[in-house]
Amino acid sequence: MNFFEYRDGEMHVENIKVSMIADKVGTPFYLYSSASLEYQYNQFKDAFGDLDLLICYAVKANTNQAVIKTLGSLGAGADVVSEGEMRRAIKAGISPQKIVYSGVAKTVAEMTYALKKGIFQFNVESEPELYQLSEVATALGKVADITFRVNPDVDAKTHAKISTGKSENKFGIPWKNIHQICAKAAKLSGIKLVGLDLHIGSQITDLAPFEEAFTRVGNLVETLREEGHDITRLDLGGGIGISYDGENDNPILSHDYAKMVKRVVGHLQCQIIIEPGRFLVGNAGILVSKVVYVKEGAERSFLIIDAAMNDLIRPSMYDAYHAIDPVIENKDAKVAYDIVGPVCETGDTFAKGRIINPLKKDQLIVIRSVGAYGAVMASTYNTRRLIPEVLVKTNEFAVVRPRPSYEDIIGLDQLPSWLSE
Ligand code: LLP
Repeated sequence: MNFFEYRDGEMHVENIKVSMIADKVGTPFYLYSSASLEYQYNQFKDAFGDLDLLICYAVKANTNQAVIKTLGSLGAGADVVSEGEMRRAIKAGISPQKIVYSGVAKTVAEMTYALKKGIFQFNVESEPELYQLSEVATALGKVADITFRVNPDVDAKTHAKISTGKSENKFGIPWKNIHQICAKAAKLSGIKLVGLDLHIGSQITDLAPFEEAFTRVGNLVETLREEGHDITRLDLGGGIGISYDGENDNPILSHDYAKMVKRVVGHLQCQIIIEPGRFLVGNAGILVSKVVYVKEGAERSFLIIDAAMNDLIRPSMYDAYHAIDPVIENKDAKVAYDIVGPVCETGDTFAKGRIINPLKKDQLIVIRSVGAYGAVMASTYNTRRLIPEVLVKTNEFAVVRPRPSYEDIIGLDQLPSWLSE
């Protein structure tokens, strides 16, 4: 479902004209649709029927309080990877009893914070982390419910930078060491082994790697039970890919994913935890920008827009494709542009040779599918201000993160005594 549609040749978000919000907020900015968030969450959840399921939204995809709260109020828990993310999730109203803590480098301070808050589960990724957690929990007089993140050595067939389930990746516990580490965990104080966890990568567009990995981990649950471990939870991670072309349905449908999960691991009678990020929020956001100049180069036409790689890094970092459209459609023959930002690097390119409607200075343009890993990966490189985030609900909109002032950014620096007057 696309919630950013043309009506009478002009792009709307739900019932509001994108151009109207741009007039009020100024460009560039991120624009999110509540209806899209709600639709994605509900149809994903509904696909599982009465399966014992906890959907822990991977907040790293979009940590805006308004986004987390929208999903939390529908019943979502959270997957967090830092104390900061856990604080954000709790502040947005998510109960610690619905929060799972992932990540390869949890520190003593982070473990302490999470245990004191009464976190639901730690996904433990290594033996040193296991011993550290046992020590921290024992000192606090608490027992940490843990799963072990298994590295299933499965190729997720996605971009190398976001692939996590191969044995060469830093994530998870090597397949062959699992039995040994579970036996060790059973003897430790402050630790209760409750399940297994995996996450093989992100933007996965085919069910096959998921099925392969879930089958392997499902078999492991059975053998661990035979060895006497009381395995009651299975955390399947996130990674479900989305469509980036602005038109088509997602490559993996909730219904098909849910059916596969039930078929492959349903018989284990575990509580199933899933950590989707991109799938819930990716297509709920666009980036609205304005053409600063149209520049005819020696060989190519450049559409120079006021958004840059610091606002949205995905094209420069992963060569990611995002559909780009004008806010007002026109009937002129389409042309090819290199769509670039103002930052002083050739890598500040959103698209090369993109065929779209011809555009002029000051006209509005949108980059689609940026609800996930957009605003959260932004920086102030080139001393550009972080751009606002705006959330729409039906006929209303609200700025959910304002544009900081220049003083907000420059004021973060402090002069040492020898340079102050
Ligand atoms: N669970 C764990 C343990 C993860 O590491 C991640 C993402 C997720 C869940 C959520 O994955 P998702 O459902 O969103 O695919 N910045 C990259 C994506 C990095 C993903 C990192 N881990 C991008 O822009 O494509």
